[in-house]
Amino acid sequence: MNKLLSYLWPTTRRFPSEINGTLEVTYVNGKKVLDTKNANYSYGSLQKILEIGLTKVDLKKVDNLLLLGMGGGSIIKSLRETFEYQKNIVTVEIDPAIIKLAKDEFGISTSQKLQIIESDAFKFVKTSKEKFQLIIIDLFIDTNVPSIFYEKEFCENISKILQKNGSIIFNVGMEIEKDSKTIETLTSNFGSGFKFQVYPKVNGTNTLLIGKKSAS
Ligand SMILES: C[S@@+](CC[C@H](N)C(=O)[O-])C[C@H]1O[C@@H](n2cnc3c(N)ncnc32)[C@H](O)[C@@H]1O
Repeated sequence: MNKLLSYLWPTTRRFPSEINGTLEVTYVNGKKVLDTKNANYSYGSLQKILEIGLTKVDLKKVDNLLLLGMGGGSIIKSLRETFEYQKNIVTVEIDPAIIKLAKDEFGISTSQKLQIIESDAFKFVKTSKEKFQLIIIDLFIDTNVPSIFYEKEFCENISKILQKNGSIIFNVGMEIEKDSKTIETLTSNFGSGFKFQVYPKVNGTNTLLIGKKSAS
C-alpha cells in the first residue's frame, strides 16, 4: 500500500542516529531510498555513481571485495543483482542505526558471502590482515567525506591491504573539486605504485577516483 501511495506522494519515516543525525527512509515512485538531512545515502544518486565506478573495473578478477561505508547496502544489491558478483564481500560500517535500517528496511544482513563489520573504517584498514582485489571507499557523514580519509596514513593502509593488480573506487564527494591540488595530493598519498583516473561530476555531482595498483 505504501508503495502504491508513493507514486502519488512520497512518504518519509525518520530514525535517530547519534552518528549521522536524522536518517530518512522515503518511499518515492515505488522505491525506498535512504537519506540524511542533506544527502542521499543509498538507493538513489549515490548508488548510480558507484555503479558507474563498477563499470570501470574488471569484477571477474575479484574474489574478495571490501566496501567501506555500507549505508543501506545499495551497491551490495547492485553487485549481486546487476553485476552478478556472487563472491565474497566484507563491509565496514560505523553506525549501528544504519546497520539496523539496512537489515529491517532493505533486507541486507550478514550471510555466508557477506560479512558486516561494525567498526570505524580508519581503524579497520589499519589492523586488517585480509587482502582484497577491489576496495570501494564510500565514507560520508551527511554530504562530507571526513578529512581523515584523504590523508596519507589511510591511503597507505588501503594500499597495504589491496592486492597487486587490485583496484579502488573512491567516491571523493563534491567539495574536493573546488581545489584541484587536493586531488593531486590525494592520489600521491597512495604512493607511486598506482595509476589513477579521475572522473569529475559523475551523475552530475561527485568526483570518482579509480585507482589500479601495479603488478610489482
Ligand atoms: C553514502 S553512505 C554509503 C552508501 C553505501 N555505499 C551504499 O551502497 O548504499 C556513507 C556511509 O559511510 C558511513 N561512515 C561514515 N564514516 C565512517 C567511518 N569512519 N567508518 C565506517 N563507516 C563510516 C556512514 O555511516 C554511512 O553509512
